Amino acid sequence: MKFIGAATSSHQIEGNVSNDWTYFEEKGLVPKVGKACNSWMKMEEDIKLLKMIGANAYRFSIEWSRIEPDEGLFNIKALERYKRFVNKLLENGIEPFITLHHFTNPIWFLRMGGWVSSKSIRFFIRYVDFITKYLKEVRFWITINEPNVYAYNGYVIGVWPPAERSILKAIKVVRNMLKASSEAYGVVKSNINTSYVGMAHHVRVFRPMDELSKIPVALREYLFNFLPIYSDVHAILPPPAGFMENLKNKADFVGLNYYTKDNVRFSLKSIFGEEVVDESSWKNSLGWEVYPRGIYEVSLRFSFGKPVFITENGIATENHKERLRFIKEHFHWLKEAMKKGVNVLGYFYWSLMDNYEWKEGYKAKFGIFTRDRKLRGKLNLRKLWEG
Ligand code: FCB
Repeated sequence: MKFIGAATSSHQIEGNVSNDWTYFEEKGLVPKVGKACNSWMKMEEDIKLLKMIGANAYRFSIEWSRIEPDEGLFNIKALERYKRFVNKLLENGIEPFITLHHFTNPIWFLRMGGWVSSKSIRFFIRYVDFITKYLKEVRFWITINEPNVYAYNGYVIGVWPPAERSILKAIKVVRNMLKASSEAYGVVKSNINTSYVGMAHHVRVFRPMDELSKIPVALREYLFNFLPIYSDVHAILPPPAGFMENLKNKADFVGLNYYTKDNVRFSLKSIFGEEVVDESSWKNSLGWEVYPRGIYEVSLRFSFGKPVFITENGIATENHKERLRFIKEHFHWLKEAMKKGVNVLGYFYWSLMDNYEWKEGYKAKFGIFTRDRKLRGKLNLRKLWEG
C-alpha cells in the first residue's frame, strides 16, 4: 500500500467558519460547530499527530467559504494559509490529498440556488481553477465528497442544510455535482499536469432480508452506490440523473468511503424498503453495523478496473481496543480484495481526531486522537498494515 493516513474535512475541524452550515445552525437545524478542533489556528500541530501514527498521507479539505467569501471575490490570504500547510506536510514526508468540496458551501452560493441551480457548475469551476493555479505542489485531488449522501440528507430527508424535501431537486443536485466534478477534472489536469483526480464516493453494503427485499435493495444499489461511481468512471450520466448524457472527463481513480451495512426489508411504505437492525451484530456508538468484509465486497464491485483509494473508513468509539480491532479486520479484508486484483493505492482512516460529526455534533468519537489532540492509545497505521 503506497499511501496510508487519516482524513478530515474543513468544517469538521477548522472552527470559526461562516458557511451554509453555520447559517442553518442559527436556525436550529444542526448543532453548533464553534471552534471544532481549532485546526485553522493549529493545522501544523495536526502534522505531529499524523507522524505519531505512521502516516505518509493526509486527506483534508479546503473551505470554499474562506476562499470565496463573496461571489467572485477571492481571499488569497486564506489560500496562502493552506499553501503553508501543504508545504509543511511535504517537508514532513506527508502527501497531501485535497478535497475541494466536502459538504459545506459559501452562503452566497446557497442564495444563488446552491447545487440545484445549473449555475453551480460554473461557480465551482471558477473556485477550482483559482485553487489549482496556486497549489501546484499538490498531486492528489478529490473534487467532491459523497454527492449521494449530500443530496439524500439535504434534499430528500431534509435533515442537513438546506433542509429540502424534493426527490426532483435531489436528482438535480447529483447531476450538477457529477457534471461539476467531471469538468473540474479537466481544470485540475490543465493547471497541474502531474495531478491525479477523482471523487470520494460513499458506498454501503445492502443486504436483502428475503427474496422480495431484493427489489428495494436493487433500487438502493443502483441509485446510491452505482450511479455516481458509474458516471465518474465512464463519463456518462445514467438515468434518472441524465439519459446516458456524455460528460467531459473520466476520473483517474475511484475513492471509496466505506463504513457500514444496511439490512433491508421490503415495505409497502417506501420503495426503498426499511432498514432492520440486527441486534446481535457489532455496532459503532451511533448504531451503525460494523461489517469488515464489506470493504472487500465494495472494492471488488466498485473499482471498475481503476486504482482505488479508501478515502474514508472508521469507527465511532471511545474504546481504543475496539478501534484497533476495527482497523485490523478491515485491513485483512482489503488485502483479500488486493489478492483478487483490486489495485488499492491508499487507505485513509476517518478520522485523525474526534470532530464535528454533522447532525450528531460532537457526540460521535471517530478520532484516533481526542478533540484536544490526546492519543487514546498506541496505534501505528503503517505497522498495522504490515503486521
Ligand atoms: C462520511 C463523511 C464524513 C464523516 C463520516 C463519518 O459520510 O464524508 O465527513 O462525517 O461520514
